[in-house]
Amino acid sequence: MEKNTIINFEITLLILAIGHTEDLQADLMNECYVTHVHYQDSSEEPRGKLKRTEEQIVSYCYPGDLPGYAMAVSEHLAVTVNELASLEIDPWGTPKGILARAALSCNSVEEMVEILTDKGHGISSGLSFNVMTLSEPKRRLFNIEVACRERDPEGNFLPDRQSRVSVHEVKENEVFFHCNLFQRIPVKPYEGAGASSECRLRVLTNNYPQPTSIDDLRMMLSDDSDHDYPVFREKGAKDKAKTAAITKGILARAALSCNSVEEMVEILTDKGHGISSGLSFNVMTLSEPKRRLFNIEVACRERDPEGNFLPDRQSRVSVHEVKENEVFFHCNLFQRIPVKPYEGAGASSECRLRVLTNNYPQPTSIDDLRMMLSDDSDHDYPVFREKGAKDKAKTAAISIYDGVSNEWTIFGDKATNDSALKLTLPLVAGP
Ligand SMILES: *[C@@H]1O[C@H](CO)[C@@H](O)[C@H](O)[C@H]1NC(C)=O
Repeated sequence: MEKNTIINFEITLLILAIGHTEDLQADLMNECYVTHVHYQDSSEEPRGKLKRTEEQIVSYCYPGDLPGYAMAVSEHLAVTVNELASLEIDPWGTPKGILARAALSCNSVEEMVEILTDKGHGISSGLSFNVMTLSEPKRRLFNIEVACRERDPEGNFLPDRQSRVSVHEVKENEVFFHCNLFQRIPVKPYEGAGASSECRLRVLTNNYPQPTSIDDLRMMLSDDSDHDYPVFREKGAKDKAKTAAITKGILARAALSCNSVEEMVEILTDKGHGISSGLSFNVMTLSEPKRRLFNIEVACRERDPEGNFLPDRQSRVSVHEVKENEVFFHCNLFQRIPVKPYEGAGASSECRLRVLTNNYPQPTSIDDLRMMLSDDSDHDYPVFREKGAKDKAKTAAISIYDGVSNEWTIFGDKATNDSALKLTLPLVAGP
């Protein structure tokens, strides 16, 4: 995962700010989310080097990564993290994501240096942290570079197992930039990493005067003037990464805070912004006297026939209430909002819909539903996606909300396989 371009500057009395672009490979677009962690350890022996008993963290997260590997704030520090292109790595070193998470437990830059030095192990490869202290009387800005332990000229690791750490405090009136290259610790980047980061650094330092406002910073981070390696990575000719957008996952999380379908519609409409691309929600109301079922389709804002966005910045939302005795199916295609699927998406979803509507009578029990969701009769695009000849995806889990028995069951395999792993939870969340 490549992450690029950071601007970090301080101008006393005018602004004190860190700016950061978070860049990722295009296939991770829309998969990221923001998490708020309240960690409490009430055991007699608190764990971790710092023995923290309580932490509050808000972090932008990649799926499968720990908090702290992109942008995050704690009660004491605001931190942005960049990977640094490193020809030197230590395969026995501590994984970077683990140290980035541990750094968030620190109350000061001094503690961060101790944690990142990681005596006895050392980091596996290069990271850069931009840090703003939050709990000091006067906020300060730092950049910390971390590299794996050093090798001798023959390429053998020196016996000292710890990271190399370099701290730079950004001075008053200093404007500081850091891209994905080491600036202070002498570690060579891998082949090809230089061009992209150096280009962004050049654009930021040559095309702009010293920024004096947050608006200047916004403009700089959104610059896409370079043909090959723009700062805002959307359409760079030689660039495979993208600057991560506002994500669908954030709206899906916000929808969970709603108490009703009406509130969901308001949240998903997202007036002033709008969703980035298509989502479908199936919803069962739990707290109404009579439970009801809905499908909600959400699409990004509309374009005119020339392809320009209409001025109205909000999602398109369509709600369908499933009536009594209605059996309703929804695959990965829009059914009501007129949005065309991308090439090739139709065949797979249409095939599943056909199997479910043609091969089965109207389901009358949860067992019928389990059977339908486990159907792998189709050779190319089975409903249960395990061995479809034309299908690259796999079914990770089957989930059934049973509104009558009040049970939520997650099946780890086919829902008809009684010897497979399954987890049954109460349908209503509560203490
Ligand atoms: C049922 O699940 C078990 C455990 O995961 C697995 O070993 C077995 O192959 C499954 N049976 C079928 C028919 O899929």
